[in-house]
Amino acid sequence: MSVPDAVKVQVPATTANLGPGFDCLGLALSLYNSVELSLSVITEVEVAGEGAGQLPLSDANLVLQAAHKLATQAQVEVPGWRLRQDNSIPLARGLGSSSAAIVGGLVAANQLLAANIGLPQLLQLATEMEGHPDNVAPALYGGLTVCGIEQDQVHCAAFPAPEGLSVALAIPEFEVSTELARSVLPGEVPFADAVFNTTHAALVLAALVSEDWPLLQVAMTDRLHQPYRAELIPGMQEVIAAAIQAGAYGAALSGSGPTIVAFAGHEDATISAAMRDAFQRRGIKARIVWARVSGQGARVVPELG
Ligand code: HSE
Repeated sequence: MSVPDAVKVQVPATTANLGPGFDCLGLALSLYNSVELSLSVITEVEVAGEGAGQLPLSDANLVLQAAHKLATQAQVEVPGWRLRQDNSIPLARGLGSSSAAIVGGLVAANQLLAANIGLPQLLQLATEMEGHPDNVAPALYGGLTVCGIEQDQVHCAAFPAPEGLSVALAIPEFEVSTELARSVLPGEVPFADAVFNTTHAALVLAALVSEDWPLLQVAMTDRLHQPYRAELIPGMQEVIAAAIQAGAYGAALSGSGPTIVAFAGHEDATISAAMRDAFQRRGIKARIVWARVSGQGARVVPELG
């Protein structure tokens, strides 16, 4: 097999949890980062867009850490890499920027080294790096994914992107790291809350698969993580309520936040204004970005790859 000189990979943003599906449910979004990777004698990194001036330009870069992991898995020694990142996914906002970096590095190196590692194994490697599968899975497969971990093995079912959904993202100016957002979660929860979340996560999945949009509002309610994370995200409950009041099918914290995600039938200025204003009332500036659910996971862009 001929090995390409350089590979370009496009990876989608993701929204995880969808309310109650903590560490389980995820959707790919039509907002993308791209990664261009080639082999080099010394490592050189260039970052454009989100994270420029912030992300490491060395082997500490997450895309390169993932590329290294893939090379180790494929038992190939690589002296260095040349990497260019072009990022549209904002960092530390609950939109899967670290997952996009990991998946981008793995998929690009897999192609570049002609390693031929399949999607389930790539998901396993990505989850080992990220710590949970619900962002890396849709970044890899696209559409809607449902994941669980059993004895360190990731199990994943992928569904096509639900059609007819527009996705509003209210992205506040401030960042919240996933590490911090996980540190505020309790070690134990009441049995009733666990039951509440299993039933509601199943309802979210049923609503998305059967395109039963009115079911989403109740289904997307959560008791496992959002109530504990509210202290980190002023206005969280108000923004969710404002989106629903303005006509959204349902709304939740996107991943570990601070972005709030809302679903609607079409791009709707009333929903945008309601979410923006609800954050504004707490003195927080937020931009509203509309996206679609992306059926496409990470893909090698043909021109280069
Ligand atoms: N399920 C993860 C969490 C997603 O909520 O911590 C992180 O974006």
